Amino acid sequence: MSLCDDARSAAREVLSHDEVTIVSHIDADGIASEAILSEALSRAGIRPRSVYVRQLEPMTMRQVPQDDTFKVFCDLGAGQQNLLVERGLREDEVLIVDHHVSQPAERSYLQVNCLHHGFSKMSAAGVAYLVAREMDPGNVDLSRLAVVGNVGDMMAREDCGLVGPAREIALEGAAAGCIEVISRDLNCYGTSTRPLHVCLAYNDDPYIAGITNNVNGALRFLQKLGIELQTPDKRWRVWEELLPEDKRLVTSSLVQQLISCGERADRLFSESYLFPGEVARTPLRNAQEFATLLNACGRWTRPSVASAICRGDRGPAFREAEHMLNNHRAVIRELLEYILDTGVEELSHLQWIHVGNRYPDTIVGIGAGMALSRLNMDKPILVMVEQPEDPCLTKVSMRTTERAVGRGIDLQQALTTASAEVGGAGGGHRIAAGAFIPKESEEYFVKRVNQIIAGQLCAEGQGHR
Ligand code: C5P
Repeated sequence: MSLCDDARSAAREVLSHDEVTIVSHIDADGIASEAILSEALSRAGIRPRSVYVRQLEPMTMRQVPQDDTFKVFCDLGAGQQNLLVERGLREDEVLIVDHHVSQPAERSYLQVNCLHHGFSKMSAAGVAYLVAREMDPGNVDLSRLAVVGNVGDMMAREDCGLVGPAREIALEGAAAGCIEVISRDLNCYGTSTRPLHVCLAYNDDPYIAGITNNVNGALRFLQKLGIELQTPDKRWRVWEELLPEDKRLVTSSLVQQLISCGERADRLFSESYLFPGEVARTPLRNAQEFATLLNACGRWTRPSVASAICRGDRGPAFREAEHMLNNHRAVIRELLEYILDTGVEELSHLQWIHVGNRYPDTIVGIGAGMALSRLNMDKPILVMVEQPEDPCLTKVSMRTTERAVGRGIDLQQALTTASAEVGGAGGGHRIAAGAFIPKESEEYFVKRVNQIIAGQLCAEGQGHR
């Protein structure tokens, strides 16, 4: 059975029910997956109910309604099948649409999971799209949301573009005219909304001396190239609206700048995914910024607003989301300043900080990632934050760089191992991971993660000999 065969069986099953509940994550991929499936179901005449959870755990299982509706677990569920068994959910009332590692359980629930077919660089939104396309080939427009979910879940990061079936979905959307795939575009966040010099200065992958974290430096660099950086009415231009020859001039000059500092220039370029149907200079215009908008809503407990945007609301929901995005950015900026002002503790292989109860646990990882480029980028950053709803529990977020991942660092493995040892749970990706641990184990935990990372680097070094 191929992934598409699994998607077809899932589509057939879900369409056979009149009442469906979708349980999904509050992050960009979870919201995009939920929106894909709820839109596809609505188009088929089935009105689903949606529930969003931060993680699927015993406490959040209470949010899953105890009723006769068919339950679709999206972007979660594969790793928590025992919880579904404990809840008493039967095999004929569950579908799991996921891309996380599966946990063996007493019952074999119907599941579509790209990992089971060897595709690790595809997110739940990609899988949800394959199911939606099997429900009706007319759902090809939902490929946009699949791309948003994939990009939001960092599936395009390592390879500077989507690969495998996730990329095929993007190309399918391009063939249908709803996605513009741009190869060798500038690998920079904010190309649709940020003034170009700000966009360059905020980018740290690759790190460009004199430009990264230096807005004035970036501005001087662009001014020297003689590019019209402002429109006649004095608005700063964004990358997307530059003329092709100006884009070439900027990228070739950045390549020279990197090479003169002895850096590689390959990560300067990536494939990007634009949505030509959206208004220019809005965050909806490209997959990365769209994903941030979804994250801003989800992480500030308004995932349904994000879902409405995914499903086409460009009125009240979009205005509310823009407001939340501004707030999201302001709090993250404040967190970034807090980390930099307070300073981090450096161990041999990581740097860490505890931010107490000052910030919500859902955003500390994002702030940590941004702080990293202003700190020692060779050492991953670990941030701990209190859980207001459970003072015995600490949330941990870690971030590192692509370069460190290339040297053998795997934060997902480090946090999964160390948190399991102290009775907690963690997961994520090599470059970005999170965990929940008992508060009393904080001190031991940080040292243990440091030790695991030291071991990862050592093992990689030996492997290269
Ligand atoms: O919360 P944060 O942004 O730091 O999460 C980074 C990554 O780690 C995300 O992909 C998230 O789903 C994952 N994570 C996890 N288990 C946790 C916390 C985070 O799998 N307990």
